[in-house]
Amino acid sequence: MTWQHLAVSQDEAIAVVQLNRPDVLNALNEALMGELVAVLEEFDRADEVRCIILTGAGRAFAAGADIREFADASAVDMLRGRRLQQWERIRKITKPLIAAVTGFALGGGNELAMLCDMIVAGESARFGQPEINLGLIPGAGGTQRLTRAVGKARAMELILTGRQMSAREAEALGLVTRVVPDEMVLDEAKSLAREIAARAPVAVRLAKDAILKAFDTTLEAGLDYERHCFYLLFATEDKEEGVRAFLARRPAQFRGR
Ligand code: COA
Repeated sequence: MTWQHLAVSQDEAIAVVQLNRPDVLNALNEALMGELVAVLEEFDRADEVRCIILTGAGRAFAAGADIREFADASAVDMLRGRRLQQWERIRKITKPLIAAVTGFALGGGNELAMLCDMIVAGESARFGQPEINLGLIPGAGGTQRLTRAVGKARAMELILTGRQMSAREAEALGLVTRVVPDEMVLDEAKSLAREIAARAPVAVRLAKDAILKAFDTTLEAGLDYERHCFYLLFATEDKEEGVRAFLARRPAQFRGR
């Protein structure tokens, strides 16, 4: 397929999706979001892909929703639009998503990075939820995911003032997995992706699922869910292979079965 607003590549088990509207700092208009959902779902279905990296072209990961699309939009337009359904579909991607962020990750850009499972940041990365400056609030998960990631008081400060934070601050707050020089961000994300891709795919999928459960359930229900996933993995060939390989002191060959 050809993409108007994305640059897409695949290197064996690792897919890289680059948001590609650099003239507007990769602002997330509806067309781009439609393409993004389509390509992520396609990679999610592709057996050979085990990890997906999301990154941005030019000076930004993404500077948020396309503000031009907001100019004439009414509440009813927003309610009827497909915008938030697209975000829900990204939330349902089962393979690990790594955001490789350099430059601005603001508003929807920060929300998209947080919707990924891990964030690798370049030193230039700037994170924030500036919607308050437009008379708005985050609308794609910012109030919920930022709060869960950095705690109430810091989320309050960031969302109520709209200020940007640096990569180092985001790392200190636990939003970001690793910070590296900008020119190394993609390689670092790929090496993290390759490590994950070498693991047992069904276990990776259930681990992601169980970790995400921690955000929307009680501890007791989450522990029950984890235990069921754990038992289920005893039915996989990969568990047999992993245990046999460990005991034989050889590398495991996982097949996703
Ligand atoms: N939607 C649409 N266009 C955007 C955009 C957005 N969210 N963010 C940046 N752009 C466009 C600018 O309009 C400008 O286009 P132009 O060259 O045609 O005028 C271009 O991207 C470059 O942005 P510019 O503002 O000139 O760059 P800067 O380095 O001076 O500032 C930012 C960078 C990120 C601080 C600034 O662009 C900004 O505040 N963007 C909006 C962030 C935001 O509020 N996001 C939440 C949206 S709900």
